[in-house]
Amino acid sequence: MYSITFKFEQKGLEPVTLEQVAPDQSLLEVALTNDIELHHNCGGVCACSTCHLYVEQGEDLVEEISDKEEDFIDRAVNPRLNSRLGCQCVLLPGKQGNITVTIPDQTQFLGE
Ligand code: FES
Repeated sequence: MYSITFKFEQKGLEPVTLEQVAPDQSLLEVALTNDIELHHNCGGVCACSTCHLYVEQGEDLVEEISDKEEDFIDRAVNPRLNSRLGCQCVLLPGKQGNITVTIPDQTQFLGE
């Protein structure tokens, strides 16, 4: 089980921490099932960059980045070293720990 903290670049949004989050789901799925806004134009199949987020802590607790994901991150707004696509960050089974992510401002234009 995981503890996941979502932080937000959008002004006025306070961090949200979720406890007892089950593995085998993506950070995008976790966000959406908890009413946290995160764009997902392609439906979560690694074919856009709108679910872009930053993994601040716990990157070893999610599936490794693929070449295809890296290609799409290059098209995201303001990519950084810790950029990931939320739909590709599947929580690994058999592990536990804390994950902290920052979600870019969802009101800005996020590209394709
Ligand atoms: Fe399109 Fe994640 S939702 S790449």
